[in-house]
Amino acid sequence: MPILTIDNQRVIAPEGATILEAARGAGIHIPTLCHHPDLSNVGACRMCVVSVEKARGVQTACTTPVFEGMVVQTNSPDAVATRKFVLEMLLSDHPNECMICEVNGDCELQDLVYDYDVAWPEHTGKRHTYPINPDPNPFIFIDRNKCILCGRCVRACGERQNRDVWSFAFRGFETKLVAGADQDLLDARCESCGQCVAYCPTGALFDKMSVGKGRAGQARKVRTTCSFCGVGCNFDLHVRNGKVIRVTSAQDAPVNGLALCVKGRYGYDYVHNPQRLTHPLVRAKWLDPAKLEQQVTDGRWQVMQEAGRRSQAASGKSQDEPDNPLPINQFIAVDWDTALDVVANKLAAEKKLHGGRSFAMLASAKCSNEENFLFAKLTRQLMTTNSIDHCARL
Ligand code: SF4
Ligand code: SF4
Ligand code: SF4
Ligand code: FES
Repeated sequence: MPILTIDNQRVIAPEGATILEAARGAGIHIPTLCHHPDLSNVGACRMCVVSVEKARGVQTACTTPVFEGMVVQTNSPDAVATRKFVLEMLLSDHPNECMICEVNGDCELQDLVYDYDVAWPEHTGKRHTYPINPDPNPFIFIDRNKCILCGRCVRACGERQNRDVWSFAFRGFETKLVAGADQDLLDARCESCGQCVAYCPTGALFDKMSVGKGRAGQARKVRTTCSFCGVGCNFDLHVRNGKVIRVTSAQDAPVNGLALCVKGRYGYDYVHNPQRLTHPLVRAKWLDPAKLEQQVTDGRWQVMQEAGRRSQAASGKSQDEPDNPLPINQFIAVDWDTALDVVANKLAAEKKLHGGRSFAMLASAKCSNEENFLFAKLTRQLMTTNSIDHCARL
């Protein structure tokens, strides 16, 4: 393992490490923009430049491998001047609109401009004026005016998602981020996973459903597990005024890191759907009639007009036929204890009447491993049958 010196500190680096990896391993900060630890290194932005003894000019720390006896200065005057110049160049073709930008406060470019105290330059030269949000897809907001051509989205889509939707077209000042052959995203085989958004260091790519709903500093992040399938991806819900306004993936999520599928990242609007079931529903015929009438009168249980909708009048009588008793198949929204008692009593009664072999369980990949384990316990130990199967076997 090579031993080198970084900022006068002796560092032992793994074989084949880059200067950036060696420095980070030793707790030494080097700024980056195009680098991301999940992605390959391309050395595109020049933010990570450092001075290496006996080498000409400055070197990109993210692509330069270490060698025995190497001496590195991460904040040499040349390195700092180069970083400032890079930032000035980026700002010279960047809209001066942090105040109204969706990622204000959560933008790597903005943070570096702050760290290096770079003033917004006079915009005297040529500038891009790309249309904002030009793509009709429902999920990915695009503002190429804020694109710094770092290529993180290109590599995220190609290396993490294996879709290769994004690439750079044209040359020099005309270089432009394009989907497919300069097509709309969905025509270019985009599957709307949002990985490119998650890796973008600026507001060039953003989640369209979240535009105008609130910025990072205005929302509370709540780490949760996706409810769509059994993989168990973790992500952060951004909650503002009691509403989920965005989902972002998290680097430290143990199962998925920054990856999510379209359902996990953009399928959260069900949370506030008024038709969402929030209580267990039990048919009237399976509840004790005397208790049913009392609980409904007291407002603890509610008569449903139809699946998913609670009755306006929680009266124990159906709205259409106020003078008639409840139909036996009428759904009643009850508390969990009552619902579980109904299920347990019915299972016990069926087992007593017909034996455990009359029972079969179909488990689901939408449940967690722990829930499927409990299904197996219930089936084999309580219902005394091995008739359990799982949709994942189909
Ligand atoms: S992308 Fe970053 S630097 Fe650009 S306007 Fe938005 S907050 Fe400012
Ligand atoms: S949303 Fe996913 S598939 Fe579509 S361009 Fe971005 S990374 Fe590629
Ligand atoms: S859209 Fe974002 S990630 Fe892609 S090249 Fe531009 S700044 Fe980088
Ligand atoms: S981070 Fe090294 S060149 Fe961009």
